[in-house]
Amino acid sequence: MAVSAEHIRTLHKYEKTILSVLERQMSRYSWVPLEQLITSTGFAESEVNYRLARLIEWGMVRFNPVPYDGYALVFGGYDTLALASLTRKGTISALGVQLGEGKESVVYEALGLGPVAIKFHRIGGRSFNSARVNREYMAEGHCPWLVASKLSAEREYKALVALHPKVSVPLPIAQNRHTVVMSLIQGANLNRCILEAPAVVLDEILENVRIAYKEGMIHSDLSEYNILMEEGKCVLIDWPQWIDAAHPNAEVTLNRDLDNILTYFKRKYQLRYDLEDAIQCVTG
Ligand SMILES: Nc1ncnc2c1ncn2[C@@H]1O[C@H](COP(=O)(O)OP(=O)(O)OP(=O)(O)O)[C@@H](O)[C@H]1O
Ligand SMILES: [Mg+2]
Repeated sequence: MAVSAEHIRTLHKYEKTILSVLERQMSRYSWVPLEQLITSTGFAESEVNYRLARLIEWGMVRFNPVPYDGYALVFGGYDTLALASLTRKGTISALGVQLGEGKESVVYEALGLGPVAIKFHRIGGRSFNSARVNREYMAEGHCPWLVASKLSAEREYKALVALHPKVSVPLPIAQNRHTVVMSLIQGANLNRCILEAPAVVLDEILENVRIAYKEGMIHSDLSEYNILMEEGKCVLIDWPQWIDAAHPNAEVTLNRDLDNILTYFKRKYQLRYDLEDAIQCVTG
């Protein structure tokens, strides 16, 4: 992750103000002009420049000199704003170790009332972060990575709220900007486990998929990587791409989810379970 907990702790209130102004102005500008930052913050130009230099060094803000001197928020800065809000509300008090990193997110352990997990959604991160792509995509004053990452987090949170506790998913705790705070699952991903009773676990997974389907939701990215095993019990994670059970692609998507799981259990445990039977069990 770009942002370090140390920098967030030592962030000056003026730096926080600048990040907030940038966040707001990103819907108007591709690159927020220095003059705009001075006007919006009410700080002296030298103060703004000094604070910006620090934010750039910490990977929270980016500078672009063409066609005018402008500044943009990047993921590190957005992370910082989200963490500052969650801290202010008392949702979390400290950031811990990294738990995982995928194509479109990074997950950290954090301290809330107890241990929690915080997932930072990162949609369109690397490509959108290049100055060239930013200029192209943000020419109209849009900020696609920021909007897409926030939507992704909101979508995942919505699924967890709808499904918990009927389906075995992490308990949703809070959602802010592009982040979701949820209960920390103590256990390994299914792909890293050697199960003693694989048939029992497979039945349990299908039962959870069935209940989610009954609640109108299909995971859409179900695999051995998105199932955690906590004390012998499966927990289905990673929900931002869920689709409605009434969606035109529902059947194809559900079949693919089920096929992923059945193929995995067949390959690793020589367990045979007919796809048609699984579909029947989930939708019947
Ligand atoms: N609530 C949680 N408790 C413990 N560990 C978690 C939790 N949520 C996620 N993780 C860990 O972080 C990893 C990544 O999380 P997740 O699968 O939700 O996102 P992702 O795989 O990065 O997303 P994408 O599939 O878009 O790349 C998981 O494989 C898991 O190891
Ligand atoms: Mg995943």
